[in-house]
Amino acid sequence: MTPRPSSSNPVRALVTGAARGIGRAIALRLARDAQLAGGARLTLADVHEAELRTLAEALQAMGSRANVVAGDLGDPEVPGRLVASALEAFGGLDALVSNAGIAKPSPLAACATEDWDRVFAVNTRAPFLLGRAAHAALRTSRGAMVVVTSISGTHATSPLGAYSASKAATLMLVRQMAGEWGPDGIRVNALSPGLIVTPGTTAAYADPAVREQREQRVPLHRLGTPEDMAAVAAFLLGPDAAYVTGAELLADGGLAQTLMSSLPMGGWQAQIAATPQAASRLPPLSPSAGGGRTQRPGEAGSAGALD
Ligand SMILES: NC(=O)c1ccc[n+]([C@@H]2O[C@H](COP(=O)([O-])OP(=O)(O)OC[C@H]3O[C@@H](n4cnc5c(N)ncnc54)[C@H](O)[C@@H]3O)[C@@H](O)[C@H]2O)c1
Repeated sequence: MTPRPSSSNPVRALVTGAARGIGRAIALRLARDAQLAGGARLTLADVHEAELRTLAEALQAMGSRANVVAGDLGDPEVPGRLVASALEAFGGLDALVSNAGIAKPSPLAACATEDWDRVFAVNTRAPFLLGRAAHAALRTSRGAMVVVTSISGTHATSPLGAYSASKAATLMLVRQMAGEWGPDGIRVNALSPGLIVTPGTTAAYADPAVREQREQRVPLHRLGTPEDMAAVAAFLLGPDAAYVTGAELLADGGLAQTLMSSLPMGGWQAQIAATPQAASRLPPLSPSAGGGRTQRPGEAGSAGALD
């Protein structure tokens, strides 16, 4: 019989890119969720070793154990070393979070070959090498893997062409691993963030006006937090997602669904504004000097809704 995926929260986990941003929040969330079960056993990987050690102290104060491993995931030897360290430290692995990622903004016409290769090495090759190295251990534990991809994996994002293409490839890698490893009891899913405020996006939000514009573009009218993403990762790794594999969970506040709504609507605009439902969402009317009504835009239009 095919082994069923694990039905409990992960205890032994490896998180890459754990020093900052989304990866750090995921490590803290896994530790918090494991508190009642005696704590988590977390292997934390990043290039920033000092920040990992600070995080490890916070996790230990929460009752978890932490194993810190420094390494550059652009080096093909590193993913296998991280998995080996996690297995040596805690005797197995229930969850693998491939989160570390980089972007090198550049128009494609000017994108250097080494930048393209570096982005693909970290964003696409490393999740593959991590998954391959962890496959046997995850099969034993009937564990789960989450790969942090991006809204840019399905929506071309200029000037992040190499990044966007790398995340698209990584999304397909997730589907491929899910199909091949499902019979082994391993679930593999993608978490695609939208616009999240992290150390990695500081430059994009340095200008408050840009931040405000971006917030207004998101239907939920706010940018995402690392904790928002950690909650989704915890769901995908945990028992409530026991029948979810090969999925992309897009956590973007609705941003990806705004493409058609951002188009100018021409003559439809007046017709829409004339409907009672639309009128109730317009700003309040100001009374005219004669006690009459001020006309709303489109109020004297053809009266019909979309007919
Ligand atoms: N923040 C967003 O808006 C956003 C949107 C979509 C997708 N993402 C994805 O989420 C993931 C995390 O992003 P973030 O915003 O938290 O970024 P971040 O830059 O704040 O944190 C990324 C962490 O990964 C580490 N890292 C980077 N390259 C590494 C390497 N070669 N080897 C080891 N560690 C490395 C960094 O040192 C850092 O600690 C990335 O895969 C990113 O592509 C983020």
